[in-house]
Order: sequence, then C-alpha cells, then structure tokens
Amino acid sequence: MKIVAVILAAGQGTRMRSDLPKVLHPLAGRPLIRYAVDAATAVTGEKPVVVIGHGAEAVQQTIGEDAHFVVQAQQLGTAHAVRSAEALLAGKADLVLVFYADMPLLTVETLQQLIEIQHKNAGAFTMLTVVLPDSHGFGRVLRNPAGSVQAIVEEAQATPEQLAVKELNVGAYCFRGEWLWDALRKIQVSPKGEYYLTDAVALAVQSGSMVQAAPLADADEAIGINTRVHLAEVEEIMRRRTNMRWMLAGVTMINPAQTYIEADVTLGKDTVLWPNTYLRGKTVIGENCQVGPNTVIENSAIGSHCTITASFLEGALVEDHVDIGPLARLRKGAHLAERAHMGNFGEIKNSYLGPGAKMGHFSYIGDAQIGAEVNIGAGTITCNYDGKKKHKTEIGAHAFIGSDTMLVAPIHIGENAKTGAGSVVTHDVPDGEVVVGVPARLLQKKKEEDEGT
Ligand code: UD1
Ligand code: CA
Repeated sequence: MKIVAVILAAGQGTRMRSDLPKVLHPLAGRPLIRYAVDAATAVTGEKPVVVIGHGAEAVQQTIGEDAHFVVQAQQLGTAHAVRSAEALLAGKADLVLVFYADMPLLTVETLQQLIEIQHKNAGAFTMLTVVLPDSHGFGRVLRNPAGSVQAIVEEAQATPEQLAVKELNVGAYCFRGEWLWDALRKIQVSPKGEYYLTDAVALAVQSGSMVQAAPLADADEAIGINTRVHLAEVEEIMRRRTNMRWMLAGVTMINPAQTYIEADVTLGKDTVLWPNTYLRGKTVIGENCQVGPNTVIENSAIGSHCTITASFLEGALVEDHVDIGPLARLRKGAHLAERAHMGNFGEIKNSYLGPGAKMGHFSYIGDAQIGAEVNIGAGTITCNYDGKKKHKTEIGAHAFIGSDTMLVAPIHIGENAKTGAGSVVTHDVPDGEVVVGVPARLLQKKKEEDEGT
C-alpha cells in the first residue's frame, strides 16, 4: 500500500505580521515546516509533497531535497491547494495523507493512527478531531443524532448552534487516493471566495460514503500556529517535551522551565544544566558536565566532565575535563584540548589551546596554536590583526607568557620560553629563552647591555 503525504504550506500567514513566511519561523531552532516534513517522511517512508506559494523559493531552499514541491500560485483555499498536487500524485498513491504545515506538535504516532483507521475504513476518508472548550477559530465537526460525521462548518459560516459545538477539525486527513482527486473537482467556492477542503466531508456523506473522525488524545497536538502568541505557546510545550525526554535520559535540570534545548542538541547522562542555559543548533554535550547558569552554547561539541559557567560558546570544540568561565567567550574555531582551563573575561577565536594549558584572566587569543601546559598570564593579547590581514601566533609547550604580554603576530614563541610582564613581543623567541621589555629583547642580552652602560 503506497501512502504519500501532502503538506499545505502556501498560505501567507498574515496574522504573524512578518516579512518571513509563516512556515519558516523558527521553533526550538528549526523552521516550522521542518517538523511537518520530518513527521510526514517518518510516517509514510516517502518524500512528502509540499504545496508552496508565499515565499515559495525560500521554503523550497530550506527543505531542499527532502520533499517534492508544487506551487499554488494563487491561494484559493485548502481544497485548491491539495488539487495542485494532483498532477504529481493522481493514480500513484493508495492513500493520501493531507495536513497543514503549521501544526508542529502533531506526532508521528498520531499520524500513524490516522492512517490505520482509514486503512480499515471502507469510506472516503478519516480526519483528526479534537474536543476543546475554546474553539480557536477552528472548523466545527457536525454529527447526526446517531453520531456519524456529517459535515465541517467553518467558523465564519457557522450558525449560533453550530458555533457551540466543541468537537473541532484539527486539519489532518487521510484520503482514499482515487476518491480524493475526483471529489476536489466537485467542491464549490465558499461565500469567502475559497475552496474549502473541509467541504469534502459533506460531499462524501452525500455520496453515501463514511467519514471517520479520530479524536486526539492530547489536545496540545492540535495547536496550529496562526499568530506569534501561538508560536510562543507551542515553543513552551515543545520545550517541556524536549526537557522531559532529556531528564528521562539522565540529564539533571535544576529548573527545566528555564532550560532551553533546541531540537538538534544531544546530551550525555549525569550532565547538570543550571538555569538560564541555552543549548542551540547542532550542539553535543558529553557526560558528567556542569553547564550554566547563564550560558549559551551554539553549534559546539563539548566532551565529558567539563564545567562551563556563565559563558558564551559558538562553533567551539571542547575536549574532556575542561573548565570554562565564568564570563568566557569562545568563538568559531576555538578548540580547547583536555584539561585546558579558561577563566574569566577571556576570548578565544580560531585557536587551539593545548592539553592542560591555562588562560585564567582577561585575554584575547585569536588565530593561535598553543602547546600543552602553556600558562597564558592575565591580560595577554595576540595582536593578530595589522589593519589589513590576520596573522598567526604559535606558542610551544610549557611556555610561560607573563601578564599583559602583547604578542605581535606573526610570531613564534618556543617551548619552555618565557615573556616578562608587560612585554611587547615583536620577534620570535627561541626555545627556553626569556624575553622582556618593549619591544621585547632576550633577557640575557639586555643584562649585558645594561651592565655595559
Ligand atoms: C483550517 C481548516 C479548519 C481547521 C483549521 C485547523 C479549512 C477550510 N479550514 O482553517 O477547519 O479547524 O485549519 O488549524 O481547511 N493553505 C494553502 N493554500 C491555500 C490556503 C491555505 O496552502 O490556498 C495552507 C496554509 O498555508 C496553512 C493551511 O493550509 O498551512 C491551513 O490554512 P489556514 O488559512 O491556516 O486555515 P484555517 O483558517 O486555520
Ligand atoms: Ca491555521
């Protein structure tokens, strides 16, 4: 049995009041449309067909190869939108799963159930419904006294009695393929000038076909995003789901309500997240780490047994047993080897800090390669930029960089070399030598000169 999903995503999303197409608004770090595409693929095992219109190019670019696209040039309603997929799908799918792109909480399990119910239904289709005290502007599901579904009436067209109905249309349907395309052609334009997919219910019933309604167990899944208020509501629910999942997998959260983990993050067990921690993008954190409070980690890989306090990391690679912060900043290409220590008010960019290297207090390290067990004194700066180009700094293992040293790149400091406090180093320093002063000179030479005068 071949099942293909059609995702409707052509609408403008006017109520978002945004320049960005609604389905590209980020939710837990992923664009909304991603959730629909992933769920559809998981449940059908096929690439879904996404109906695009507003912001078509941007939506298509975001999803790329993971879906087929059809363009609905004019948004004439949800039935019209499904029709745009006819050329691609007619005769090619036994069941067609249709749902709207703005319901990111809809789970794979729910879509699976919807398909299973239709599988057993001899009639035209099955749809998801939800019973809610507040209508959210959803279409109302009308049943006859015997309890069979008769029609869906949109809020704008509903009579006062119909408005009082609490069973609502979620916006997810599983159609018998050969029935669908023919039925869509028969749907009449509504008083609002749109072709409503929801009119397929009455159409099926009139032709003597049974429409099944599958009520949702968890009403949250039905939340469709129409405004930024809904977006924030869904973000909160998704955060709860994600945090629950990680806590059950062995991660401690001091306050889950203030812990923000995006969808693509992974965490190891016995790691503790302190409040106001944001883990973003493709971030990986190992086991037994202490992260936060007040920490942002984006697209970074962190090993195990690390402590990261009140710091900002972006595109960083941190090995095991490293401690960072409070108030440290790691930028793109920062690589801290095992047991490295980075204290307060430091910044590292595009640099390697070797095993056991220490950089305790307010320093800037950019475009540098620093060996094992090097000590970077307070206030050390790699002067990597001459106003035109960036230059490299190399520091050999076990070197000792005195407080407030300026390393004017390109420069090489040898193994076991030392620089005096406040020195401005403009020439390479050989292994084991000591340089001091401004500009820095070999300590031995300086002594001889001082004695000579
Ligand atoms: C729709 C349903 C309503 C249901 C509600 C649930 C219809 C007529 N109404 O109303 O019964 O309770 O969803 O959220 O289906 N779209 C297109 N092309 C179009 C029009 C819409 O692709 O021409 C897409 C939109 O981008 C959106 C989805 O279809 O993703 C639903 O459209 P929307 O305008 O949000 O419908 P609702 O008024 O919410
Ligand atoms: Ca909607």
